[in-house]
Amino acid sequence: MKRMKIKDLLETGTVGKKFLVKGWVRAFRSKRFIQLNDGSTIRNLQAVVDFENFDEELLKKITTGAAVSLEGLLVQSEGAGQSVELQVGEIVILGEANPEEVQKTVLQPKKHSLEFLREQAHLRFRTNTFGAVFRIRHGVSYAIHKFFNDRGFYYMHTPIITGSDAEGAGEMFRVTTLDAKNPPLNDQGEVDFSEDFFGKQVNLTVSGQLEAEAAALALGQVYTFGPTFRAENSNTSRHLAEFWMIEPEVAFNNIHDNMDLAEDMLKYICQHIMDQYADDLAFLSERDEKEQASKPANERNEMSLIDRLRFVCENDFQRITYTEAIQVLKNSKPYKKNKFKYPVEWGTDLQSEHERYLVEKEYKKPVIITAYPASFKAFYMRHNDDSEAGKETVAAMDILFPGIGEMVGGSQREERLDVLKRKCADFHIPEEELWWYLETRKFGTVPHAGFGLGFERMVMFVTGMTNIRDVIPFPRTPKNASF
Ligand code: 4AD
Ligand code: MG
Repeated sequence: MKRMKIKDLLETGTVGKKFLVKGWVRAFRSKRFIQLNDGSTIRNLQAVVDFENFDEELLKKITTGAAVSLEGLLVQSEGAGQSVELQVGEIVILGEANPEEVQKTVLQPKKHSLEFLREQAHLRFRTNTFGAVFRIRHGVSYAIHKFFNDRGFYYMHTPIITGSDAEGAGEMFRVTTLDAKNPPLNDQGEVDFSEDFFGKQVNLTVSGQLEAEAAALALGQVYTFGPTFRAENSNTSRHLAEFWMIEPEVAFNNIHDNMDLAEDMLKYICQHIMDQYADDLAFLSERDEKEQASKPANERNEMSLIDRLRFVCENDFQRITYTEAIQVLKNSKPYKKNKFKYPVEWGTDLQSEHERYLVEKEYKKPVIITAYPASFKAFYMRHNDDSEAGKETVAAMDILFPGIGEMVGGSQREERLDVLKRKCADFHIPEEELWWYLETRKFGTVPHAGFGLGFERMVMFVTGMTNIRDVIPFPRTPKNASF
């Protein structure tokens, strides 16, 4: 008999027919009721064993964590909690799980802290929470591909190993095959990277944007969706050293088109998850409510997870300029009461306390901030010609989300060769390094724009998880690359 997934069985299985299922035992109560899960849904299948029909030795092996194959008749269930159950006729133990050892793991069916679950990242997939998170993570990924495909974008695979530092922040992981103990040296006694694998210094990419721009200036609309690496030493609940980023890039778009595209995409993702992952979302929403209740009142989220997603879909994002944001902050209570730790001054970057105030207190919805000072944004952002003298701004946009902070960062790009060259000089970027990027502005340059969505931050928002380490299977953070 062919195996049926539990999700399909619960949705379409005909009562009175025989089925074969395989999965992992979540619990075996009273030598009679097996709760079986196979990962296809958060819901367990209840399988009922008549212990008189089976060998005692076999039954002993049906323990939490064990993998079994069950064949039986689907019947109407009389117990509460499920409408159907499997009346087991045949049991095959596929993989045993020693109960004493299971005791020490997160497989033990009781509440575990997220910290403890992180220490057993290889087993946490088996829990309800992480099953739901990773099914939804897949859903977010699928929604993104579908969103762009439906709008005629091409998925572009930009390189992971690269010689350029797209963001100019210098926070890169070097890739080398040189012998760390005994590297070749040049005449000046420095490491001679011309001897290295690629004949030059290369690193793991911090962004696929520059390459995506080259592709967009021919294919019109492209997006990247790949791993991104940043060696920034920030041990926060929102930073990973290895994360995934989605970067669309569109020829002929200006900053306003760019905002529209990003807002549409974020709404589309939320809607897709509400439509397709109702069971997992209901579970996570309940989980989130319990977590909120344990927080101090002023940190609590008033809306449930599902309401937060609905809210994003149904409301326009607030769009303000950086200059307006500074004004709003200066007029705010925390500013007047000296509650902000960092200064609020035109020309300084917004800190997360400021972003949180704007999103969570002032507007209570996603906020898009545009026209940032050129000084702390990347070299490739388009210079705003209407900048006030001495207050130069660029056509940047950051999208801030409640509970998350920066979800998206993007801009219209500087398409004018002379201005771009000046920016390279200002930022001390050697033109030789970016010769190919500059050439795209030489041959048929056009206005274009794009942005980067932090994939894990989006998964945090739609799952309600509050630590980024809990939405990626095996997180990489400073001093941590276990598994
Ligand atoms: O704002 P960022 O640095 O923008 C870029 O890299 C541009 N090249 C994007 C573009 O215009 N094509 O990063 C984009 C997003 C951030 O808004 C944030 O959501 C996420 O990537 N991000 C991180 N997520 C997890 N861990 C980190 N260390 C992150 N750094 C950025
Ligand atoms: Mg940014």
